[in-house]
Amino acid sequence: MADLPTGFWSGWIIVLTVVSLAALLWLTISIYFAADANKKVDPESEPVWDNDLREGSNAPPLWWFWMLLSTLVFSLIYLMLFPGLGSYPGLLNWSQGSRVADSYENFEQNFAEARAEIVATSLAGIQNDLDLMQTAERIYKRECSACHGPDARGQASLFPNLVDVEWQWGSSAEQIEQTIRGGRNANMLAWQAILGDENINQVADYIIQLGDSVSESHAGKLVYDQNCVACHGADGSGNILLGAPSLIDDIWLYGGDLKTVKASIAAGRNGIMPAFAQRLDDAQIKLLVAMLAR
Ligand code: HEC
Ligand code: HEC
Repeated sequence: MADLPTGFWSGWIIVLTVVSLAALLWLTISIYFAADANKKVDPESEPVWDNDLREGSNAPPLWWFWMLLSTLVFSLIYLMLFPGLGSYPGLLNWSQGSRVADSYENFEQNFAEARAEIVATSLAGIQNDLDLMQTAERIYKRECSACHGPDARGQASLFPNLVDVEWQWGSSAEQIEQTIRGGRNANMLAWQAILGDENINQVADYIIQLGDSVSESHAGKLVYDQNCVACHGADGSGNILLGAPSLIDDIWLYGGDLKTVKASIAAGRNGIMPAFAQRLDDAQIKLLVAMLAR
């Protein structure tokens, strides 16, 4: 009832309403039951205007009285039951807020079962259920497509492709669930100040060839071995615990041309996947995992 008037104004509204109702009641009764209300007017002494216009002495029909009385009674009952008299909440305690709370509770009850069912279903079971997968796609479209693109193939060399074979943070259902729930913060520092142009050129050239056949004596190998192995691995296959991507496949988060690779190394990269644990419930997250884990 926070938006209803309180204190003085509430009292003032109550007084005004009650006094008005009482005045209306008095007016109605006085019109019908005043001592002289039904007295016949003596036609002799009756004033006549404009030649033939007489005041007459016809009382208003009685059903008007009952109608007026019943609207007054209705007002009184209404004001007793529902909010309307100042901040008095009414005997029924009705409010829009409690109506919303009621329907929210109904909603929770109706869907709690469906959700519990989804949570209890195996991933394969969900993947084989066309309806559930469509639901998953709707959730994906609403929550994820702005970044990862409508078809989940990534976007703008900033948001990773989710349907390729490379998983920066792991491809198992558990790892994907963890990614969605908790989010991920990738952290690669900027190497420009540490390595300088020459070393960056060499290591960039080296990692682009990594995975194909690159000479053991490539000048970039030394730079790589000294600075990059800890995260990207001795063979360049990456480390899902750190979100360090594989550098030996042809899949690049930010782009695999020499210029972009050099930019990644020089300025560092800090991709952030937001956490969805607060925003989505268990069933929704499970549906998304089923959609992405293949
Ligand atoms: C502290 C761990 C760490 C070290 C050390 C590190 N990296 Fe990274 N690197 C990462 C992470 C994490 C990412 C992913 C960044 C992201 O997703 O935004 C990354 C991304 C990259 C990328 C972008 C890959 C793509 O797919 O677009 C390149 C290129 C790269 N690193 C090269 C290097 C080189 C060369 C070195 C050594 C000079 C190096 N990294 C050292 C953690 C590291
Ligand atoms: C605000 C943009 C944004 C939204 C929204 C977003 N993501 Fe991401 N997501 C990212 C970024 C950026 C990364 C890469 C993080 C990194 O560089 O390590 C990422 C990474 C991921 C990864 C890890 C991929 C891998 O290779 O390991 C998964 C899985 C993922 N997102 C799923 C989702 C799902 C599911 C949703 C919707 C519930 C979603 N994301 C919504 C930005 C977003």
